[in-house]
Amino acid sequence: MKHSASRISASRSPRRTAAAPAATAAAAVLALAGLVATAAPAASAAPSAAPATRTAATTTANAAAAPDIPLANVKAHLTQFQSIASANGGNRAHGRPGYKASVDYVRAKLDAAGFTTSLQQFTSNGATGYNLIADWPGGDPNQVVMAGAHLDSVSSGAGINDNGSGSAAVLETALAVSRAGYQPAKHLRFAWWGAEELGLVGSKHYVANLPSTERSKISGYLNFDMIGSPNAGYFVYDDDPVIEKTFKDYFAGLGVPTEIETEGDGRSDHAPFKNAGVPVGGLFTGASRTKTSAQAQKWGGTAGQSFDRCYHSSCDNTSNINDTALDRNSDAAAHAVWTLSAGTSEPPAGDTYQNTTDVPIPDGGAAVTSSVNVTGRTGNAPSALKVGVDIVHTWRGDLVVDLVAPDGTAYRLKNASGGDSADNVQETYTVDASSETANGTWKLRVQDTARYDTGYINGFSLTF
Ligand code: TRP
Ligand code: CA
Ligand code: ZN
Repeated sequence: MKHSASRISASRSPRRTAAAPAATAAAAVLALAGLVATAAPAASAAPSAAPATRTAATTTANAAAAPDIPLANVKAHLTQFQSIASANGGNRAHGRPGYKASVDYVRAKLDAAGFTTSLQQFTSNGATGYNLIADWPGGDPNQVVMAGAHLDSVSSGAGINDNGSGSAAVLETALAVSRAGYQPAKHLRFAWWGAEELGLVGSKHYVANLPSTERSKISGYLNFDMIGSPNAGYFVYDDDPVIEKTFKDYFAGLGVPTEIETEGDGRSDHAPFKNAGVPVGGLFTGASRTKTSAQAQKWGGTAGQSFDRCYHSSCDNTSNINDTALDRNSDAAAHAVWTLSAGTSEPPAGDTYQNTTDVPIPDGGAAVTSSVNVTGRTGNAPSALKVGVDIVHTWRGDLVVDLVAPDGTAYRLKNASGGDSADNVQETYTVDASSETANGTWKLRVQDTARYDTGYINGFSLTF
């Protein structure tokens, strides 16, 4: 029922809301395209009405958790590296037979596990060097997650911590991918670099010879160099924020505090990738730097002593390993490879969340809301979020309608316009909500700013 001529105009102005924010590319802050950190759902504000129903089918497959990497397997690889060094003059250095024997050992394991392997040759110091590359068949070829470690030692020792540890952890992570029959959304590539100890020669060669089209497909490179230092610290590279968070979250889950790696940024094989614009991250347990007493307090070990007293020395043998550190870092490597390659368990675009519980709108009164609770999504809302508004009202010009994001940001859908005497608001609005976290409680806020005509929210829906 609607009155005609003598409408009573609003006696007070409607409560103002913030103007709809411009589309900010907040997501672009994350350099690692596609590797978007999962935002925690907003604190659950009690819905003002019955729980929203989700109408479209949703994917139930969540990302598989990484398996535990057996420490014994990682250590078995170290034993093999030690044997290789012992049989080849005590080292696995670039240009020496122990290096090529190390490559052959790792490659045979990968071939047997179903990887597609290749050797990339280069020359350094007059000797042939090799990078070993192993691709796991499948995954999106346009989104490649790489993990790597340098496989060469210095000539003075077997290089079991530097860097048998990283090499073995990356190898065992790759073998775990095969054992699990893991089918990540992204393509996985593993690498063992040659001649790192001569100045990152192998990894520089790889990056320099990678066509820019291939380079841009690498969504992240994870580096593992010295991850079993006997007097270990737990250092995470301070680079790509998503990769860094992935590692930090893992250690936080173990209750192990971490610090940012500061013992020489750019001193390992992630540097060429970083310089080429690839998002990078990695782990490190310390080299020649001294552990402080504060670090010994939180991590154990010996204050006033190097993290690795055998760094670049002949005593970098199988005794030069902290098993706990090697185990944790190997598991962290697998966790990161799994997590960063899983893709999202994103429900498909087109999912609709709705609330059809009626909400009366007080005449010329306070704003009311209808809520929809969005869960299980990753990252931000779409730039073309469809907001379905179904309001039954006898004079829609009375109504001010906003979409309120989980963080409280309001998007004006409709202003009051006293002369608009038509019935009802039955519209689908398109909102650029790309700066809003998708998960959380979204509200349709409706205020009737003028007396006489009344109505109710009949339904509110969001289509992602
Ligand atoms: N292999 C590296 C080197 O000989 C070890 C190292 C030192 C390192 N500082 C680092 C590795 C920092 C990673 C991060 O220089
Ligand atoms: Ca383990
Ligand atoms: Zn080294």
